[in-house]
Amino acid sequence: MPLHLRPGTAADAPALSKICLLTGNFGTSAEHLHTHRELLGLVYAEPYVRMQGTYAFVLVHTPEQKQKEGPEQVVGYIIGAYDTPAFEAEMAREWFPPLAEKYPVGGEGTLLDKWFYRLFANPPRTAEDVTSLYPSHLHIDILPSYQRSGWGRKMVDTVVRHLSSRGYRGVWAGIDSRNEEGRKWYVKLGFRRVESTVGEYWVMDFERWDGERGRPVGQVTAG
Ligand SMILES: CC(C)(COP(=O)(O)OP(=O)(O)OC[C@H]1O[C@@H](n2cnc3c(N)ncnc32)[C@H](O)[C@@H]1OP(=O)(O)O)[C@@H](O)C(=O)NCCC(=O)NCCS
Repeated sequence: MPLHLRPGTAADAPALSKICLLTGNFGTSAEHLHTHRELLGLVYAEPYVRMQGTYAFVLVHTPEQKQKEGPEQVVGYIIGAYDTPAFEAEMAREWFPPLAEKYPVGGEGTLLDKWFYRLFANPPRTAEDVTSLYPSHLHIDILPSYQRSGWGRKMVDTVVRHLSSRGYRGVWAGIDSRNEEGRKWYVKLGFRRVESTVGEYWVMDFERWDGERGRPVGQVTAG
């Protein structure tokens, strides 16, 4: 399949938001859980191509010319912030107040919609026991039909290289504790679990990543 990675831009925001929704229910679609289907992406996708202090790489499917299937399609992303406490402070100052006004606590919606209204009113901050390990975080999501083809691994490799080149030595990701498949994948990729007072997190120490092979140091490969 003609796929490649490229840096993400603000023009990718709608595509990122859609992918976020289609994978946002611990790896499966969250469409049925929302009246306002834009809410997930407004927190977990769009800020990463619209705010300062963020990075984004998108997985793009470009149909072969002769097939004339139409324009390129963004089918996955790996996104994050370099300095999470600074990013979250900026989000609390700039990003969430207009959302809190548009989606007030007490407004109509599903249970999960209402959870987001409360989040907009009380912007989240990641616990220091996580951010003190490394400042940077990531989110990764790929549409189902493009999963399990090795792109998730390549996307992690891209981010390890990107952050390493800027002097960072590790990165972490939060995970919904119901996401069993995501957890198995983090284990496979050599992330280690961190016991936090709040939530479940998986950490990649770059010294444990073999950049030559795009795998954890010492991982034996089949074949
Ligand atoms: C999790 C996710 C990013 C993984 O990306 P992917 O492209 O499917 O994974 P890859 O093909 O790069 O897999 C790399 C390796 O992990 C293995 N793997 C993939 N998914 C796995 C799973 N669920 N359990 C165990 N191993 C898994 C692959 O077999 C491969 O092993 P190999 O190198 O020995 O062949 C992707 O499946 C996804 O977007 N899932 C839904 C959203 C999600 O859960 N996001 C992450 C948590 S928030």
